[in-house]
Amino acid sequence: MSYETLQVRTEAGQVGVITLHRPKQLNALNDQLMDELGAALLAFEADDAIGCIVLTGSEKAFAAGADISAMSKFEFADVYQGDFITRNWETLRRIRKPVIAAVSGFALGGGCELAMLCDFIIAAENAKFGQPEIKIGIIPGAGGTQRLPRAIGKSKAMDMVLTARLVDAAEAERAGLVSRVVPLDKLMDEALAAAITICGMPRLAAMAAKEAVNRAFEATLADGVMFERRLFHSMFATADQKEGMDAFLAKREPVFRHR
Ligand code: HXC
Repeated sequence: MSYETLQVRTEAGQVGVITLHRPKQLNALNDQLMDELGAALLAFEADDAIGCIVLTGSEKAFAAGADISAMSKFEFADVYQGDFITRNWETLRRIRKPVIAAVSGFALGGGCELAMLCDFIIAAENAKFGQPEIKIGIIPGAGGTQRLPRAIGKSKAMDMVLTARLVDAAEAERAGLVSRVVPLDKLMDEALAAAITICGMPRLAAMAAKEAVNRAFEATLADGVMFERRLFHSMFATADQKEGMDAFLAKREPVFRHR
């Protein structure tokens, strides 16, 4: 399938790489881009060869937010009925293979929200995160008021959402928004290495681990712990649990079947 607003490729035969590609608009998100992104993610999700997905943008911008020129004339009825750019976000949330955001440059508004929807964020030193929607008379609309406080706490989230202040990569790492910061020219190498590491893990365990961590944001502690326990138990029905433990005890490398 060909895309106009994305570049899609496979690395090492097992990592799906999606690059947002609206360079003139700093990868501003519009319906076409979000529809294509949903389709590209679902295609990788369905491809058995793919074990992990990396989502990235350009050096200057991961994504500078929702497309303001597309939004500027919208009335309530347009955004409500058309579900402007968010109509695919539930698709993204349901992707069960791990998705890493590799962020350089601006990740603002919907761009920051898109990065937060990924499982973890690796940032280049030039990355800047922000929820500056208030400056144009709106508020975050794709999870910014919900995922950001869960990621970095209320005080810093309120600061970002109310003052529109951008935080740089170092501050984002201190706050727990990103998992690692690397030099710009190492960003894709680092993200691909992390993805290849994940691809080498037993597939079912990686999917279950993702599902269990995500449950932490939806459930009470008791429900989340019970959910984790049942998934943990279910790992003992997999061939790779047998292989992983046998290999450890035999002091040899495991050969996972991903089953
Ligand atoms: C449409 C955008 C854009 C955006 C940048 N551009 N951001 N177009 N929507 N969100 C366009 C500019 O108009 C310009 O086009 C070109 O990209 C380059 O941008 P510049 O502003 O010239 O670059 P620079 O001076 O380097 O500033 C970069 C920037 C600034 C700080 C990122 O562009 C900026 O503040 N952008 C808006 C960020 C923002 O408010 N995001 C939140 C959007 S609301 P031309 O044609 O002039 O070259 C949102 C809501 C999400 O995201 C809700 C989800 C449902």
